[in-house]
Amino acid sequence: MSTASNILHFPPKKSEDAWWRDRIIHGNALEVLGAMPKESVHLAITSPPYNVGLDYDTHHDSMPYEKYLKWIAPFWKQVARVLVNGGRFALNVAPTSIKDFRPIHYDMARQLRDLGLIMRTEILWYKQTMRRRTAWGSFRSPSNPHIIPSWEYVLVFSKGAWKLEGERGYSDITSKEFIEFSDGFWRIHPETKKRQPFMKSLYESKTRKNPDKIKKDAHPAAFPEKLIYRLIKFYTYRNNVVLDPFGGTGTVAAVAKRTGRSFVHVDVSGKYCEIAKERLKAVGSDQPDLMELRAAVERNAGKPGTPWEKARAELELIKPT
Ligand SMILES: C[S@@+](CC[C@H](N)C(=O)[O-])C[C@H]1O[C@@H](n2cnc3c(N)ncnc32)[C@H](O)[C@@H]1O
Repeated sequence: MSTASNILHFPPKKSEDAWWRDRIIHGNALEVLGAMPKESVHLAITSPPYNVGLDYDTHHDSMPYEKYLKWIAPFWKQVARVLVNGGRFALNVAPTSIKDFRPIHYDMARQLRDLGLIMRTEILWYKQTMRRRTAWGSFRSPSNPHIIPSWEYVLVFSKGAWKLEGERGYSDITSKEFIEFSDGFWRIHPETKKRQPFMKSLYESKTRKNPDKIKKDAHPAAFPEKLIYRLIKFYTYRNNVVLDPFGGTGTVAAVAKRTGRSFVHVDVSGKYCEIAKERLKAVGSDQPDLMELRAAVERNAGKPGTPWEKARAELELIKPT
């Protein structure tokens, strides 16, 4: 069994080069990222604990707001340090709370811009959850009505330069995907504790006997894979390194692996790392070997259409529409 399929309990026992690459790392992200070499990651994607009192396995999710902002700032410094020049950081943040609203997306954007990162855009992730209305405020009266957030933000930053260097042959987004993803209003259903498909596949035999087990073991804030797929395809080349410092159940790692990228997954909870490990075991790469792909791109260079799409069609990774 390769070491990559085991959890690395930080710090690593042996000093290996790239000990962090393609690993599920159990530890405090501040220490783990601090030990990684600078400029080793092309895209970081994360959704940090929002400090809204969620029931995480180990993290305490309700601090006074100013204390929370001070707590999170050093993580951003480490994320910026490990990004390559031109590397991106996609930060998912939700508007927090309805009655006790905090402008967390503005405050974090400020923190990141103060570190010198370029804010390149914001994506609106429209979750379509308005059927679950629970907080009207003063119903049918202007005295104190509430807005219910049915969306989250993905704030996207670049380090040093707008452009990320990479070989053209390693860019694998299709024209259809590019056109769809470049519209910044993304309609994607969220994962919920009841609806985490990977949990069902991990615990199938146990859950048949005990259906409550999924809900009990599920993560309170897992990413939908579709959201991560879009970010990875839009912002990275194949064989780039994708990091999630607050990795939870391993959604970023799983999609990175499936799309032929390397991953770095960090979480302070051993339980979530265990779920991520099992989840990754079930994920193969849906991409061909890089050498095979490069040869196919070269074969298709003179033909009409983009050589990349022709190569992928030749390898039957996309069906012509
Ligand atoms: C919003 S969740 C991320 C969920 C993840 N996106 C997924 O798809 O499962 C935040 C995660 O941060 C983890 N966490 C909290 N403090 C941490 C720290 N200091 N270092 C690493 N992970 C931490 C929590 O255990 C939790 O799983």
